[in-house]
Amino acid sequence: MEHLLRIEHIGIAVKDLAVAEAIYARLLGTTSYKREAVESEGVITSFFRCGPNKIELLESTMSDGPIAKAIEKRGEGIHHIAFEVADIRAEMARLKAEGFVLLNEEPKRGADNKLVCFVHPKSVNGVLVELCQEVPA
Ligand code: CO
Repeated sequence: MEHLLRIEHIGIAVKDLAVAEAIYARLLGTTSYKREAVESEGVITSFFRCGPNKIELLESTMSDGPIAKAIEKRGEGIHHIAFEVADIRAEMARLKAEGFVLLNEEPKRGADNKLVCFVHPKSVNGVLVELCQEVPA
């Protein structure tokens, strides 16, 4: 059985969403298909399609939110890699048993009709990993 099915999207932390949207529209040759706020995370997201994958731009709405902190520490850039899973609870249990550190113990509601869980970068060679499972809209 496969566990992490594919890279669903790559999350990119940006300072100014409108500026970044214009850049990624020129880069990818397509415009953002959706903007969505995730209040619990203090972000506004903007999604682009790129073949079977997506790019998620993230701008912080809170000065002390996770995206604001990431930009403060490392500047703009790749923030996380998101993998699609079929059963997020099963994958969370599997990864926990494998010794990975999960940042949330329960799946939480993310952008784009997803249930998500983050895996601490310290257990994945410095990469923040997101597990995401599609929720019927
Ligand atoms: Co994401």
